[in-house]
Amino acid sequence: MSVPFREATIDMDAVADNTRHFRRLTGAEVIAVVKADAYGHGAAASAVAALSGGATRLGVADITEALSLRRAGITAPILAWLHAPGQRFDEAAAGNIEFGVSSFDQLEAAGVVPGGNVAVHLKLEAGLSRNGIAPSDWGRVFAEAARLERIGRIRIVGLFSHLSNTSPADDREALARFEEGTAAAASAGIRPEIRHIAATAAAIDLPETRLDAVRIGIGLYGLSPFDDRSSAELGLRPAMTLRGAVAAVRRVPAGAGVSYGYTHRANHDTTLALVPLGYADGVPRHASGRGPVLINGRRYAVAGRIAMDQFVVDVGDAHVAVGDEVVLFGDPTLGVPSATEWAHAAGTINYEIVSRIGSRVPRRNG
Ligand SMILES: Cc1ncc(COP(=O)(O)O)c(C=O)c1O
Repeated sequence: MSVPFREATIDMDAVADNTRHFRRLTGAEVIAVVKADAYGHGAAASAVAALSGGATRLGVADITEALSLRRAGITAPILAWLHAPGQRFDEAAAGNIEFGVSSFDQLEAAGVVPGGNVAVHLKLEAGLSRNGIAPSDWGRVFAEAARLERIGRIRIVGLFSHLSNTSPADDREALARFEEGTAAAASAGIRPEIRHIAATAAAIDLPETRLDAVRIGIGLYGLSPFDDRSSAELGLRPAMTLRGAVAAVRRVPAGAGVSYGYTHRANHDTTLALVPLGYADGVPRHASGRGPVLINGRRYAVAGRIAMDQFVVDVGDAHVAVGDEVVLFGDPTLGVPSATEWAHAAGTINYEIVSRIGSRVPRRNG
């Protein structure tokens, strides 16, 4: 079978197994976070896999993402938490989407949807300084939310927040602030079905944050949110493998420049292999000269600059032919580089590596 020109293979069994792992580990409801096209893995297929692994709700950033899952035939509850200024919820409520509500204005918008009974999760600011309801607004928002629920306009399904992962002490402080918020909501008569604050890192390391549900993103895709622990050490399996086929091979003399700016020159007569993936495909230019690849069982680093569509690997005197497989990253227990190594090479995090793999790279579900 010939090697694909460019391809990201997604192991959907890994997504299902990773979901199962979090169900077992936490004992809480798993909200599968499939925003940003499931961190590049394909939103609908990843949602199906996560639901088969025991997730019972999906999380996305915005309503457009939520509605595209509905159009793909996903019927599970979906929570969307980041809204456009002046967002109206009518169309999405008709699609049975649940809304994160982060302000009085958003609450009012949820309260006027025709038909009422709009499912909301009130999002509380607990330290991250992003879009939750500020503690100074809790009294006013909770009173109005309780009133809207009493008259059947909304249904308060959840109370939630998000952690900074700065340190266990910072996250415990945020949890304490969230608990003050849930107590204030209770005093206003709000009895949510679920409270949720933990994403992958806290769900693993801070059991007290698991509450009723955990929102798992990176862990579903088998990647570690920690610098000091690998996927395997966490019992997770990376789902995405990024590969391509060697598109050209050239023998060059010592001193030959390689790619834009000649930041790499051949030390001696050598063979260069051209890989047809570049920064337009999400291969980070910042990993120029460093990003790891595996060709015919041997590891090499990118030579010179990563260009828009391609990069070069200096394979020395190894025999490499046009059409040979080049693996950029996958499951490192299988001997290939990891997305985390690419992240380190580019000075970023594995989240960014997988979620930026471009639309020009076909996804194949394995
Ligand atoms: C509100 C919210 N919850 C959960 C997650 C999932 O986080 P992680 O991928 O670390 O599990 C995210 C992702 O950034 C998020 O924004």
